[in-house]
Amino acid sequence: MALAGSAVGLGNLWRFPYLVGQHGGAAFILIYLGCVIFLALPIMLSEFIIGRKAQANAITAFKKLAPGTGWYLTGVMGILTAILIFSFYSVVGGWGIKYLVDACTLKFVPQAQDSFADAFSNFTADAAAPVVYHLIFLALTVGIVVLGVKKGIEKFAKIMMPVLFVLVIVIAVRAISLPGARAGLDYLFKPDFSKVSSKTFLAALGQSFFSLSLGMGTIITYSSYAKRDESVIRDSVYTSFFDTIFAIIAGCAIIPAVFAFGLSPHEGPGLLFVTLPYIFASMPLGSAAAILFFISLLLAALTSSISIIEVAVAFFVEHFNMKRGKAVALCSVVLAVMGTLCSLSLGAVPQISLFGKSLFDLFDYVTSNVLMTIGSILVVVFVGWKLGKKVIKEELSNNGTLHIPDWVLNMFSFLIRYVSPAAVLAIMIF
Ligand code: TRP
Repeated sequence: MALAGSAVGLGNLWRFPYLVGQHGGAAFILIYLGCVIFLALPIMLSEFIIGRKAQANAITAFKKLAPGTGWYLTGVMGILTAILIFSFYSVVGGWGIKYLVDACTLKFVPQAQDSFADAFSNFTADAAAPVVYHLIFLALTVGIVVLGVKKGIEKFAKIMMPVLFVLVIVIAVRAISLPGARAGLDYLFKPDFSKVSSKTFLAALGQSFFSLSLGMGTIITYSSYAKRDESVIRDSVYTSFFDTIFAIIAGCAIIPAVFAFGLSPHEGPGLLFVTLPYIFASMPLGSAAAILFFISLLLAALTSSISIIEVAVAFFVEHFNMKRGKAVALCSVVLAVMGTLCSLSLGAVPQISLFGKSLFDLFDYVTSNVLMTIGSILVVVFVGWKLGKKVIKEELSNNGTLHIPDWVLNMFSFLIRYVSPAAVLAIMIF
């Protein structure tokens, strides 16, 4: 459940729909599915193998399994990546809180229709409000991590995740039945391969890693807490399956509405927040649905954000023998500053940019498309070539207690030794 909680989050509801919009719809989704099945799933299994075998945080795990080598740098890179991801993730989490407040104060009503799109850009271009909301999101995340109420939040999430799932379906049904939604459905399900470029592949690949929390040590860290008799294959397959269904339904909720309300699918990171208010305003009991939706969105975001921070916290605690509270405090200070810079870069202080992208966009782009992809290549090469088939077999079969057919082992091993590294590298280079 914790793993599913980590996977399902803003990646599904916020990032996936905006990428689908930007990269041409159906063709992107098909490529995304291919990436999940053939690349992301084997990579997830590989991280599982490392974490459960070593039973340690992302850096120590490599030190234990390959002592005296430089492999531990993969873990170091993971922790740096975690910090960059969290910096923009908590800004978006903050937007979620702001929208929850708006939903509670009944802002998403038909009378307000004209101003929804402007409201979002005015809000994010403001200096103070989005920063404050980001800090609230950060405080919630670290509060959960430091108070050790993770178990509590996970129990709560167990109830709220199905609620979120049902709500997203309800919203999708509403969106699809809007007049003019047809064009959105075509966009989602009729592939137009003429718009596909190497960028589409990179974006789909990066998103599959982002959505499944791969390539930076989250899965290594979480699986280090997993029991020896847990089926690694079952956990990975369920998580990927559920996460993907979630993303596609989120796409069905957002994209048809984008077309029905005459918005632009190319909007970028604001797409979810610009579109949702129109849907809520147009549906019966819209305000109630909005409140429930943003509460569950916030929970989904929190169960993901704690898994991002945990990568760094676990390292500080286990490696430097630091108290949990101190490790969390240290991370918070860094994240508060970085997140603030990301938020300001979206409008209030546009000078905070590099290579022609705002800091927010840069972190969003570089983590998924460069850092996590490199991290993933290192992970599969490590498991495929350094740990080798014997360890793979031990871990996948729980030391022989589960029956794993030979063809599964051989295929997995072939995928992670040759296909994944070559395909991921090729996509990155092109
Ligand atoms: N997968 C989460 C989401 O979809 C975000 C996330 C959690 C993540 N842990 C991660 C992304 C590790 C990359 C790496 O919202």
